[in-house]
Amino acid sequence: MNADITHSLSARYYTDPAIFVAEMNGLLARSWQFAGHVSQVANLGDYFAFEIGGQNLFCIRGRDAVLRCFYNVCQHRAHELVKGAGNTRVVVCPYHAWSYELSGHLRAAPNANSVPGFERSKICLAEVRLEDFNGFIFVNLDADAPPMDECYPGVREELRAYVPQIDALAPLEWVEVHEHCNWKVSVENYSECYHCPINHKTFAEGVIKPETYDIQPLESGYVLRHTTECQGPEAMTYPVDLSANEHAGEYRSWYLWPMFSFQCYPGNVLNTYNWRADDVDHCTLWRGWFTEGGKASEVIRNLAVQDRQTTVEEDIHLVESVHRGLKSRGYRPGPLVVDPKGGVNSEHSIKVLQHWMREAVE
Ligand code: FES
Ligand SMILES: [Fe+2]
Repeated sequence: MNADITHSLSARYYTDPAIFVAEMNGLLARSWQFAGHVSQVANLGDYFAFEIGGQNLFCIRGRDAVLRCFYNVCQHRAHELVKGAGNTRVVVCPYHAWSYELSGHLRAAPNANSVPGFERSKICLAEVRLEDFNGFIFVNLDADAPPMDECYPGVREELRAYVPQIDALAPLEWVEVHEHCNWKVSVENYSECYHCPINHKTFAEGVIKPETYDIQPLESGYVLRHTTECQGPEAMTYPVDLSANEHAGEYRSWYLWPMFSFQCYPGNVLNTYNWRADDVDHCTLWRGWFTEGGKASEVIRNLAVQDRQTTVEEDIHLVESVHRGLKSRGYRPGPLVVDPKGGVNSEHSIKVLQHWMREAVE
């Protein structure tokens, strides 16, 4: 075949446990990962625990109102500090009751004064980089990683234009989806719409106009931006006031490499995708749906249900079949359909994505 033809990644990228380990220790340890939403830590002392790439972490709002992220490990003999979510005045380790200020500094350790030379002021929890991205908390285990605005240039501002109420949002629904496939299979499925017209009838006929769909990388950084025109109000599966504001009638999505995407449905409806890699053969997808103050909305709840029953359900079957196929001895990576004009029937976005996937483990 012609040298210009790009072939899909070889199957071992999706099936080889060694590649998965390399991704967990490399990519996940140096890229921005979604942790949660600021509404989960609104008050001083609020915290929640979570995990990234096998590392236990927790976010906590200090008495100075600063939001911080720490490794969830005691600096004495490594016991875990907090579980789940809650509110506290000090972080007390359950093992020997060493206590830490919300800023991470050791406050007290029973009988430590009897130890000559014990320097309490030198002991502090290990802090992790954190950014508040329009209310969405992201963390990065790499202290030297470039800031989010460099990795995802312009997205913060564009998101504010498409979701003018973003500062007031809180989660209404979290939908947890388990997929028996490598996380990259699921991310690739999200990142092309070549499969949409034949597989996503509701999405393709009741939300967007597939013939106008395109997915392009931004000029710099690690973003794939989805743009499309939408169906007129009569075809939409839910009510939208198209005149509410400048972008009320538009759909847009910003996929932030590697495991997160913001998606804005017509009506400025913000929803999110967060992939979590469980092991080489499994991933979990968290879909988040947001309303102002997290208040109940029949329209958004129905939309979340419709999305789960149609687009998400349809994709589960596709990605699980692909993952089985990647283990077939009969599979040779096929050529990507890269149309120089882009558009819905092209896999140019997959070419870019697979370049990042390859780069991540080299
Ligand atoms: S391990 Fe935390 S106090 Fe000992
Ligand atoms: Fe899909």
